[in-house]
Amino acid sequence: MARILTGIQSTNVPHLGNMLGAILPGIELANTPGNEAFFFIADFHSLTTVHDPEVLRENTYATAAAWLACGFDTEKGFFYRQSDIPEVTELTWFLTCFFPFSRLELAHSFKDKADNLSQVSSGLFFYPMLMAADILMYDANVVPVGKDQRQHIEFTRDVAERINNRFGAETFVIPEARTEESVQVVPGIFKDAEGNFAKMSKSYGNTIVVFEDDKKLRKRIMSIQTDTTPMEEVKNPDTCLVYTLYSLIATAEQTAELREAYLKPGMGYGWAKEQLYKAILERFGEARERYNFYMGNKKELDLKLQEGAEKAGTVAYEVLSRVRSKLGYKKLAYFGGEI
Ligand code: TRP
Repeated sequence: MARILTGIQSTNVPHLGNMLGAILPGIELANTPGNEAFFFIADFHSLTTVHDPEVLRENTYATAAAWLACGFDTEKGFFYRQSDIPEVTELTWFLTCFFPFSRLELAHSFKDKADNLSQVSSGLFFYPMLMAADILMYDANVVPVGKDQRQHIEFTRDVAERINNRFGAETFVIPEARTEESVQVVPGIFKDAEGNFAKMSKSYGNTIVVFEDDKKLRKRIMSIQTDTTPMEEVKNPDTCLVYTLYSLIATAEQTAELREAYLKPGMGYGWAKEQLYKAILERFGEARERYNFYMGNKKELDLKLQEGAEKAGTVAYEVLSRVRSKLGYKKLAYFGGEI
């Protein structure tokens, strides 16, 4: 049994790129027999950039609703909000006391911003230690992450090994990073300045948010950038964003049909976009309904997250108690532990 753990950023309402690149593969991993998934919304990490309570709360809800809507099985796996298990901040403190300052200074997440130090909070500096605590808190074996996060997993292993060397190998489970080479890159709705497909990303403003209402979603799809090939000429599907997006969503058969339409004179891009819109509604129709249900019934959402927090909290309590005793502190007594 491998315990798989990953933190989910909650700085935006999940878009199509997040869904195809992270949410759906994540759920597949969680459903794989032999895996036990700990997936959480990293809302403490969000505080390094989000300082508006309403935005913080809503984005956390939207992210949770998206994962549940796409079918994360909360019976089999653990799905929770990081901030519901505040013990993680205690573990962060422990870790910082064993990790050299000079090594933390080498973190890319910090170094990338170090030329503008007046804008860097201490929270951003300690970000990798909170992330290490997220992982070590639950005895995780495997952490699926993107390439940009691999250094953080190195730090996690490093700090855990330092502590294990001093207090015994059973203090922390040493996790491993796993980076899928074949992560699906979803292009955005317009090309970059050089005319190449740009990755769909909130920071480029080129996203399709599948969970938006019909009218907004349709309008967004109609605004996808296409070239000026006239209706009566054949079109090149391979350089067209509409076709590429369609191929990521529709079945192989449907994609072959659309390809044929491109290669015959007479097809208009408006029609192709309409097909893409329909394909999105078909593929994500149920997920959209469930998303709206959760966003309209935050109580249900809170309930699900609360259940997840209780399950995860039991594990966190055990691990933290173990670590506390190793370091020379009392076990946590308030959660039913003996004094
Ligand atoms: N820092 C990660 C990111 O930006 C999110 C994250 C927080 C995370 N805690 C984690 C990922 C623990 C894996 C494990 O994507």
